[in-house]
Amino acid sequence: MIPAVVIANKRDRRPLSSDEIKFMIDGYSCGRIPDYQMSALAMAIYLNGMSDREISDLTDSMIASGSKLVKVGDKPRVDKHSTGGLGDKTSLILAPLLACCDLHVPMISGRGLGITGGTLDKLEAIEGFRTNLTESEIHRQLDSLGCVITGATESLVPADKKLYGLRDVTATVPSIPLITASIMSKKIAESLDALVLDVKFGSGAFLATEELAEELAASLMRVGKDAGVLTTALITDMTQPLGGMVGNACEVNESIAILQGGGPSDVRELTIELAARLLLSTKREAQLDDARSRLGKLLDSGSAMDRFERMVHAQSGSIRAVRPIGQSRPFLAKYAGYIQAIDGQLLGQAVIAMGGGRMVTGQAIDFSVGLKMHCKIGHCLTEEQPILDIQCDDENKSQIAMQLVERAITISDEPQKRPSLWRNFVTK
Ligand code: URA
Repeated sequence: MIPAVVIANKRDRRPLSSDEIKFMIDGYSCGRIPDYQMSALAMAIYLNGMSDREISDLTDSMIASGSKLVKVGDKPRVDKHSTGGLGDKTSLILAPLLACCDLHVPMISGRGLGITGGTLDKLEAIEGFRTNLTESEIHRQLDSLGCVITGATESLVPADKKLYGLRDVTATVPSIPLITASIMSKKIAESLDALVLDVKFGSGAFLATEELAEELAASLMRVGKDAGVLTTALITDMTQPLGGMVGNACEVNESIAILQGGGPSDVRELTIELAARLLLSTKREAQLDDARSRLGKLLDSGSAMDRFERMVHAQSGSIRAVRPIGQSRPFLAKYAGYIQAIDGQLLGQAVIAMGGGRMVTGQAIDFSVGLKMHCKIGHCLTEEQPILDIQCDDENKSQIAMQLVERAITISDEPQKRPSLWRNFVTK
């Protein structure tokens, strides 16, 4: 087979055969096919799309570039995947919460991408926390605690690691076939029984519109079901940040507050909704309301917190070693009115500008910086009321963030309805 011929087929909208897809992914993984040919193929896929069969073949070829996690024990294995959103910290709460329900949660997570923070970066705001566990460490911890949150091992879908880096710098990330294969190859390689997807839309997410989120959800669910993983999905609103905190150390603190039965209601509600889908999929509960109430009690009683503390300890951290938060400066309402819109892209850029996210691959994160939101869409403001605090020790960076924040908040005279947080996604 000739790589340029495969690229030309996709360029000219001819479907790729299973063998052609396998040839390109195998060749790219082992270095026989160079970055420039893989970028050309990725762009042709971005522009011309793929059929369901091609997406499944792409996912399978990516899984075959490495090895799956071996399933040990007889407990159902579950996970959640979020497509990423500003202030989304549900993973930190959901993994220990589900472990308390006698499920195994091998959560393989990623780093921040664009404006959305990454679970690994957040957890590294806990001094000493290890996110590079080996496969045998993952198995040991699942066996003893039922949950682990760590980065992908070397052998888990290496093709995605390479291809993702390439897509990031060739403007080929927002492609439904490429995103589907990237996400589902990693989740299927965890050898899951059930998966819940949190597919997000809005200015604080990767996909701007609800229609695109639905299209992605349908594609992800189809691949999950074909692979024999019980897959459910929620479509969730990110037209404003989730919870009150955006940043690394401050999001760990907010997660701990939820695990102790407090914290903002939207984070608690979404975490419970996602986890409840997995209790139903694995038949731990038969009714959604019973699942919700069981999960709420596990948060309120401190059981989930205890499991989180043990997980952090097992991964060489301590919940008493969350790194400090930067100095606070309030951003005040210039006039009275109602919060009409909160631009997540600009808020995310403010956090990145302060060093809380990356501008270039591999950049060190400043865990101390962040935003503390005091208001949500629809909030009625008086003049000079604090809308949010910028948390940063560096005055210059803080001022840059302040300018971005000013552009991010729109105040109107008209009362605004609060957007609803989530809805079930059912395939047609
Ligand atoms: N998350 C992933 O893991 N892959 C993508 O392509 C997009 C989001």
